[in-house]
Amino acid sequence: MEASQNILVQGIPDNVSEDVAALFRSRILNAANKFIDETNLNKFSITVTTASKITNFNENDSTKFTENNNQRQNYDLTVEERADKYKAVQPLFDFEQLVITEQVKDDLLLAVDLIQLESKVFDDWGLRQIEPFPRTALNFYGSPGTGKTLSAHAIASKIQRPILAASYAQIESMYHGEGPKNLEAIFLAAERDNALLFIDEADSLLSKRLTNVTQGSEQAINSMRSQLLICLEQFSGVVIFCTNLVENYDKAFETRVRHVRFLMPDFTCRREIWKRHLPNKLPLSCDVSLEILAQVEDVCGRDIKNAVIDGAMRVARKGKQIVELSDLLESIERIKSARINVTESKKLSPQVREQISQQLKSAIA
Ligand SMILES: Nc1ncnc2c1ncn2[C@@H]1O[C@H](COP(=O)(O)OP(=O)(O)O)[C@@H](O)[C@H]1O
Ligand SMILES: [Mg+2]
Repeated sequence: MEASQNILVQGIPDNVSEDVAALFRSRILNAANKFIDETNLNKFSITVTTASKITNFNENDSTKFTENNNQRQNYDLTVEERADKYKAVQPLFDFEQLVITEQVKDDLLLAVDLIQLESKVFDDWGLRQIEPFPRTALNFYGSPGTGKTLSAHAIASKIQRPILAASYAQIESMYHGEGPKNLEAIFLAAERDNALLFIDEADSLLSKRLTNVTQGSEQAINSMRSQLLICLEQFSGVVIFCTNLVENYDKAFETRVRHVRFLMPDFTCRREIWKRHLPNKLPLSCDVSLEILAQVEDVCGRDIKNAVIDGAMRVARKGKQIVELSDLLESIERIKSARINVTESKKLSPQVREQISQQLKSAIA
């Protein structure tokens, strides 16, 4: 019985690192498969929560196993059939919408030029003889909301190609052996559509491959990473990865990937981002000053966008007709503090991370 096709693992919190999460999923799958084989039970759930919560357990907010027939069908698909599911789209943004420092802009444009010149220099001029694996891919890294996705679209616009975007979570599968197939399919689809391939949340994909592999689950993670190397080698288009923070890049990727760092916007960039996010039609009070708005520090482009939306919605809800400076300032401060609280709670010390990892490992060993 292909029991793993019926199993869904959900509810792993964001602050658990991808490696630990992937190990957890895979090991739980192994254990559940054995259990199903021995008992023939094919519908059951496992809850991980505190003792006090167990009595009023809400099945939506915990680790859960359910039947999933769609996935059962997916399992049998070939790589080509999987590729049919991925379609490139026209880019949604262009360079004009992107506000970044000249330095980052130069980095981006240089990277694009280099990628476009690759075939000439490495193939026509024979440089592949001295460097068989040129840096054909980009990795955008930096804090969330700083314009990485926007930039991937802007580059696609610039090189006049559609963009095929997928996140690591979509590619990785809870079913053994499917992750590498999905990865292969996505590269195939990008090649087919002559698209720029954008792989978001790729932290786990670009991390160091695990050594001393003892479990099938660890093997599964390594196979994804090995498959990526194969795909990168065969792919002749542009691929952009996006990561938040990778502490331990795999050496093999380091040599193939060109990194571009996205920083939180400085005063000048913030001023410009505010300006571009205040549409002409928005009824603004004359006290709204870009200089004052831009003085709010430690906010990213996404915070600014959300503050404009939040501010305008609150004004409309109060029945007011005009958005004042204080409305925008209140919204940005609210969004900023909410973001900082979330970020702080995600910043686990290495000791705490190690502790969580050990607890998870021993719980599922
Ligand atoms: N550098 C920037 N220039 C202009 N707008 C930005 C910038 N960074 C973020 N934004 C705004 O925030 C939104 C989300 O940014 P996004 O590119 O998705 O961030 P990331 O991918 O880095 O998390 C964008 O669609 C845009 O409205
Ligand atoms: Mg993004």
